[in-house]
This record gives sequence, structure tokens and C-alpha cells, in this order.
Amino acid sequence: MFQMEDKLLLIPGPTNLTKRVRDVMALPQLPHVGAVFYSMFKETVGLARYVFRNEKGTQFVFTGTGTTGMESSVVSLISHGDRTLTLMNGYFGHRMLMLNQVHGAKADSVEYPNGKAADPDELRRKLNKTKYTAVFITHVDTSSSVVNPVPDLVDECAKAGVLSVVDSVCAIGGVPMDFDRLGADIVFTASQKALAAAPGAVLVATSPRAIEHMEKRKAPIESYYMNLLRWKPIMDDPRMYLATPATQVLLALREALTEVKEEGIENRWARHRKLGELVRGRVEAWGQRFVAEEGHRADTVTSFWVDKNNAGDIQSTLEKEHGIVVARGLYDDRDKMLRIGHFGILTPSVLSKALDSVGEVMVELGAAPGQLKVPGPKRK
Ligand SMILES: Cc1ncc(COP(=O)(O)O)c(C=O)c1O
Repeated sequence: MFQMEDKLLLIPGPTNLTKRVRDVMALPQLPHVGAVFYSMFKETVGLARYVFRNEKGTQFVFTGTGTTGMESSVVSLISHGDRTLTLMNGYFGHRMLMLNQVHGAKADSVEYPNGKAADPDELRRKLNKTKYTAVFITHVDTSSSVVNPVPDLVDECAKAGVLSVVDSVCAIGGVPMDFDRLGADIVFTASQKALAAAPGAVLVATSPRAIEHMEKRKAPIESYYMNLLRWKPIMDDPRMYLATPATQVLLALREALTEVKEEGIENRWARHRKLGELVRGRVEAWGQRFVAEEGHRADTVTSFWVDKNNAGDIQSTLEKEHGIVVARGLYDDRDKMLRIGHFGILTPSVLSKALDSVGEVMVELGAAPGQLKVPGPKRK
């Protein structure tokens, strides 16, 4: 799967790609007009429906990133002065709040610090008190690696008749998602995470209720490119032009989604569960503290505190000496936190060997106790 010269990316996206996915990006430039593109695009939208389990809603795929998913959800649903609620478990919750503010919402928020997940009971109490237009939820916040109880949170929104938006950028493909059963109004992800495609495509699912809300809103949607209503007809008829799609990125996405389907989405979730368990076992063996509270640790990314505050040295030694790239905490947490991304095409055996190297470097740099209790059979 990997070539010798590849670095092993254990960052929370982008991730290593299979050769099959890389190869399609090197094909002659695909034009965005003509039968080849049109059928490739429609197939990609169909495959996106498969990974979201979205048969009832509208499925979007277009050029952009996870942030495009965030901003297009906000701007398409929210008019100036609408009251919204953002649940924040880390950096990406803050970005969602900022986007609500940028687009003129009366933006309330609840911050869950110290790796705590959002609490459905607290949400219910808030929704009983205040009439919100929409609630914004992060499925897995990539900074803290907290996984939220999304079905329960979305249920509370549905019971209160409030729109719900789920940022599933660090989840879909690695963490169960069943859009039709969930009942959320918008769920989105990006191509470069657990789907193991190249960065540059955003995938969004919307409920019929979300589309109706966009169609009936009084104030026009204040964006050209981020307006989901403009993209909607293109999903059925890609011959219509809105902006030039990143055709090679979409080719890679089609290939990566085909690989997801070949593996089977449930098998992929099970593999990610194993990857998550593997990393959590090692972090415990290294004597480090998780950022996310127990019971809410994601199977796609694991953040942990590095007590010696030498995350930078660990990161650079791992890259230089072992060809393994891990991520550090964001901003103030850069030296204090390491984040290991474990999603995409990674297998437990590749991950296990890589974690041996992470452990070695942690001991070498005094970040973990000398005697590592590595679980599982002894390796030579
Ligand atoms: C949970 C989450 N939401 C949104 C984003 C933004 O995605 P992008 O960097 O592709 O714009 C990220 C990126 O890492 C993310 O992890």
C-alpha cells in the first residue's frame, strides 16, 4: 500500500492514500465538460450517499474543504439576527461559533472544557428556555478528540423543532453515521480524513426540512459559492456550470469512495474501532493522560497531554528518524499535546509498528516512563 519513500501520516488529515487513488490524480487532465466527467460525478454523488447512508435527503459533493461545509451550512440556513447555539468541545467548535458570528447570527454557545462531551440533558434545558433556529454540533472535535453523543443531541433538537447541523469532518468513514436514521438537518465531511482521498472536496447531506427552510427564508442567502441551493440542481445535472470543479480531486474521491464501498462501511467502522483501541492502549501504557474524557474518545484521532511539554521534539524526532508524522496540539497546546490521527487506509498492524516507534521516542526523550507496558504479544 505504501511506497518506501512515503512518510506514514499519523496526523488527523490529510492521510496516506492508496496507490490506486494516487494514480488517478496523475491521469491526463479531466475536463469538467463531457460525458466522462458527468458520469464520474454522478457516480461519486451516489457513492457519497452510500457512506452517509443518505437515501432520503439531498447529497452534495463540491470543491472545497471542511470549512466550506461549515460555512455553507451556516450561510444557507441562517439569516441575520437568527439565534443559534454552538456546542464547543475544542478548536472546531470555536470556528463554528465564529462563522455564526461572521454571518450575523445572535450566536450563543456552550463550551465543554477539559475533554468533556456535550450533555444532551443540558441541551434539552437550553432548548426549553430559548427558541433557536439551529444548533451546531461537532461530531469529533479534532483538537480534543472528543466524540459527542450525536444521536442523543440531534434527538433533543428534533423534539424541540430546532434545526441541527453536524460537523462530521473527523468522523464519517471511521465513526458510524446513518444520516437517514439520525434525522439531522445537515451533516458534512471533507475528502482528506477518514475517507482517504486528497484534500479539496466537501461532502454535505441535507434533510428535506433543511432545503425547505432555505427555500422559505425571507432574506436571501448571502453567498454565491457557499449557497447550497445553488449547488442543488448541479448534483442532478453536472452539465450546469457554477464554478470549475477540481476534477482530479473528484476522480481521487470517486476512487477512494469505491474503496470504502469495497471494504464495506460497517467493516470500516469496525477497523477504526480496532485502531482506536490500539492507540488508547498505548497511551495508557506510556503513562500519558488523555485529553478526552473516558467514554468519549474517538476512533479516528487521539489527543494526549505530554507531561514534559516536549511535543515538538517528539514530533520532529519521529519524522526525522522514523518517517512518521504526528500532530501537536493547536496554539497554546503546541508543546503540551500530541495528536495521533488513526483513520483512512491504516491497518492495525501498520499502526502497531508505528506506535512502537512513537513509544521508543517518548522514552528516549524522557516523555514516558522507561519501562513501557506494551499490551499484546511480544515483538522482537
Ligand atoms: C472537525 C473539523 N471540522 C472542520 C475542519 C475544517 O476542515 P478543513 O481544514 O478541510 O477546512 C476540520 C479540519 O481539520 C475538522 O477537523
